Amino acid sequence: MAFPKNSFILVFLLVCSLRWNAWAKVDMTMEESVEVYLGDIADIPCLYVFSEQARAVMIQWFVRNPGSSSRERIYYGDNTQQIVDDGTEFTGRITVSDIGDQEGVLLTIQDVQLTDEREFFCQVNGMAAGNGEGKTHLRVFDPPEASVIEGVHAGISVTNELPSRIASCEARNSFPKPNITWYRDSSPLTPTHGQINVVTLVTRESSGFYTVQSELQYKVAKEDKDALFSCEVSYYVPEGVRTAKSKVINITVHFPTTIIELWKESPQGLVKEGDTVELRCQGDGNPPPPFTFNREQEQETALEASDDTLVLREVIRGDSGVYQCRSLDLDTYEQVTGDMQLTIHYLDPAVVVPKDSEILLKGESLTATCNALSSLETATVWFKNRQQVGKGHMLFLQDATYDTAGEYVCEVTVSSLPGLHTSGSVHIIVQGAPQMKDADREVEMDEGTGKWVNLSCEAHAHPLPTISWTVTGSQSWREVLTRATEHSTISVVSVKVTSDITAFCNATNDIGTETKSFSIRAIPMVTSTAPYLPAEGNGVIIVVIILCILLLAILGSVLYFLHKKGKIPCGRSGKQEITKENPNKDDIVVEMKTNTKTEDAGLLKGVNGDKNGPSDQYMDLRK
Ligand SMILES: *[C@@H]1O[C@H](CO)[C@@H](O)[C@H](O)[C@H]1NC(C)=O
Ligand SMILES: *[C@@H]1O[C@H](CO)[C@@H](O)[C@H](O)[C@H]1NC(C)=O
Ligand SMILES: *[C@@H]1O[C@H](CO)[C@@H](O)[C@H](O)[C@H]1NC(C)=O
Ligand SMILES: *[C@@H]1O[C@H](CO)[C@@H](O)[C@H](O)[C@H]1NC(C)=O
Repeated sequence: MAFPKNSFILVFLLVCSLRWNAWAKVDMTMEESVEVYLGDIADIPCLYVFSEQARAVMIQWFVRNPGSSSRERIYYGDNTQQIVDDGTEFTGRITVSDIGDQEGVLLTIQDVQLTDEREFFCQVNGMAAGNGEGKTHLRVFDPPEASVIEGVHAGISVTNELPSRIASCEARNSFPKPNITWYRDSSPLTPTHGQINVVTLVTRESSGFYTVQSELQYKVAKEDKDALFSCEVSYYVPEGVRTAKSKVINITVHFPTTIIELWKESPQGLVKEGDTVELRCQGDGNPPPPFTFNREQEQETALEASDDTLVLREVIRGDSGVYQCRSLDLDTYEQVTGDMQLTIHYLDPAVVVPKDSEILLKGESLTATCNALSSLETATVWFKNRQQVGKGHMLFLQDATYDTAGEYVCEVTVSSLPGLHTSGSVHIIVQGAPQMKDADREVEMDEGTGKWVNLSCEAHAHPLPTISWTVTGSQSWREVLTRATEHSTISVVSVKVTSDITAFCNATNDIGTETKSFSIRAIPMVTSTAPYLPAEGNGVIIVVIILCILLLAILGSVLYFLHKKGKIPCGRSGKQEITKENPNKDDIVVEMKTNTKTEDAGLLKGVNGDKNGPSDQYMDLRK
């Protein structure tokens, strides 16, 4: 529209330029391209230098119409007027101003649109001074919206023949067209035949923006189960290229089971009868295939199990054997089996020989055995009265005494499996003739006439002895106590001393008799008053004589006592003399000593018998 108006000037300029062309010219300087973001302000400078001073300069701006070679003027200016052409896309959006210190103008475009991406021509005409034209390509940019990645949620099988869809990525509304690159972990994926396909769909919106959708098709392998996939959008900006990464996604890889492992989850360690056993099965496939359990010898019978766990309650030794876990892969229909040996240990009740109880005669010997059948090595210990009396499954009872009698308990344990233990017992009865306490010592005593004396007898035996008494010399005697314990009988008789008494107590059972004797010498009582009173004189003499005798006796005993204690210094010879002169006395002393010795020995024996009996026994048993 503006063109015809100025056609005269143009023709004139053309004529002039042709005429002056030979020696006058103008140098144009314009940028090849100017890059701006959508909506921003674009400044396109147009610089020119005349080789000769120009009297008047005309400036015109044109744009190339999209998709054709035709141009459209958008601006005209000379010394007198500046006109933005009406009715163009740029009307109202452009201004042209002088560039301060150089010869040139600056085209400023407000609110740059996508459609502004065109070539802008700056035409300068200095009449006789020459004319020129330059161009700048305006480039417009708009980054895409944040990219969106969408993964495939379903599991992807490694057995798929072709690459499977893994994820898709979208970059919306960008200008110019962005690119999408795929990454597995941090490595970019490049399309590879049969392995990786990238399907890209580019849409040009009516608004001029590009939307790019990219789909990654990938042949998964088992190793990809932990891989992270992401996409990256790269797009142009005025300064160059920028990239934006999407978030990462993982995929579910399905792969067949190739190995199955079956193991005992509980209990820890060895298994014994009565335990509850848990066997667990695990395969290397994903998703885990359904498992079935069975025993090796019963392939057809599936054991009832929940998922991957087989629970065997209160197992018995018969449950020992090889257990199998099988899976059928639903993709490949391949069956995989895992197996394990389960051993159930046991310990049978202890069998003790002799059974229950056994009667031994005194002096006899016996070997008792205690056996408990077990799948593991056992240890046997014997106890009597909670004290250990033997080790090993045999117990030797040698030379039985009454102390040998009693209950023997054998305890069988399995050191490798403490939960296994059993015990048995045998009651040993020792039979023999009665054994009277202190039978070898005859009891002798002196007692005042008319007194009551207690005589006691205690006899040890099995079967229990009965005690009977024979008392001669007294008409008044009675049994005041009789008591029987497990192995002994005690009897006490009370005897009135009227004259010298001989008494026997006999302890008797089926096997024999033992007797203990007592002899009591009766001492007449002096307390009774004389039947008649003698003459006073006689009485006095008698009293004096008695007193003298008493005094002498006291003196003698004091002297003797002092001499014994060594208070009276008398020579060694004196003592020797006495010793020599009284060999009988020495004899008596010796005798007494031996007596006490035997007594001591007897006592010691008793103590040993009571206290250390079992350990003696134990020593014997170990032989
Ligand atoms: C997009 O890819 C093409 C082809 O590889 C390349 O020429 C172009 O520069 C890329 N664009 C961006 C923004 O990276
Ligand atoms: C994928 O990632 C999510 C969240 O990070 C996680 O819960 C899931 O287990 C992962 N799946 C696989 C198959 O790795
Ligand atoms: C004799 O034994 C009986 C019964 O144990 C008792 O009551 C009595 O006091 C005893 N007599 C003597 C003199 O020890
Ligand atoms: C007790 O034993 C003695 C000697 O063995 C015998 O003489 C006496 O008769 C026996 N007495 C009784 C009551 O058995």
